[in-house]
Amino acid sequence: MSRLIIHDHNNDGINRRGFLECMAWAGTGVIWTVSGGVLSSQAFGKNIAGSSKGELNFVQISDSHIGFNKPANPDVSATLQATVDKINALPHPPEFIIHTGDISHTAKASEFDAMEGILQASRQKQIFYVPGEHDVSVDDGKQYLDRYGKGARGRGWYSFDQKGVHFVGLVNVGAMEGMGKLGADQLEWLEDDLRAKSSSTPIVLFAHIPLWTVYPEWGWSTQDSEQALGYVKRFGSVTVLNGHIHQVMQKVEGNVTFHTAMSTAFPQPAPGSAPAPGPMKVSAERLRSVLGIANVQYLAKKHSLAVVDSTLA
Ligand SMILES: [Fe+2]
Ligand SMILES: [Fe+2]
Repeated sequence: MSRLIIHDHNNDGINRRGFLECMAWAGTGVIWTVSGGVLSSQAFGKNIAGSSKGELNFVQISDSHIGFNKPANPDVSATLQATVDKINALPHPPEFIIHTGDISHTAKASEFDAMEGILQASRQKQIFYVPGEHDVSVDDGKQYLDRYGKGARGRGWYSFDQKGVHFVGLVNVGAMEGMGKLGADQLEWLEDDLRAKSSSTPIVLFAHIPLWTVYPEWGWSTQDSEQALGYVKRFGSVTVLNGHIHQVMQKVEGNVTFHTAMSTAFPQPAPGSAPAPGPMKVSAERLRSVLGIANVQYLAKKHSLAVVDSTLA
């Protein structure tokens, strides 16, 4: 099963004024409120399958929680393996993978080792990480930084460029700054990092916890994200990729598309639909239909990024 959720930032004949916000839910009753966008999305979906060379294509995975073994998913290694198989079978091989955190469940060395072992089977050797709160829970991220923080600043933030797209990995977990906060040092660095970029450069921000207010009652927001988003206002195309909430949600605000990915391990309830967030048990047959990947493609001619979510089912 494949679920398409795409937004393009440009003139596509759709008047977006009518809907400042559109949200996509996976696995629950509501699918999308993006009326006109769906048709457009499906058209882009076809383009993605047979895309031409020269365009940037990458995959986001998230929340693998290696080490988790409760009923919501007693074998998270198997579903991560299925994720790798799925990525390897994509018709257009992605150039790299972004992992938006909660790699491990309890930040044990053996969990990180197991993750790396499984990802070795991936055709993509380049994997860009940002930490989730589970990865930094024991030692405030020391081990995470040792493993994944080479060349990064502070608690692990960094940026890089690929085919004209500027990527920024941000850290909004950690004991020092607390959950859901970027902090002054990182914000200062971000402002500086973006300064030299022309406003026509497509920007991708990725971080574990959503950089928008999904559901603050459950900590599903970043306190100082407004400041970070202020720095990207002048850019024509901004895509924000997050994890942490283990379900697909999307919001479009002006030139910014916010998107959260499914987990490769277990789903979480929709905001407010349960007393608290946490692993949600679904039937064994249903599990792989609520786990999955986000395939992101930069459409050079359209100057926009398209996000296609697809499940492991
Ligand atoms: Fe998670
Ligand atoms: Fe998380």
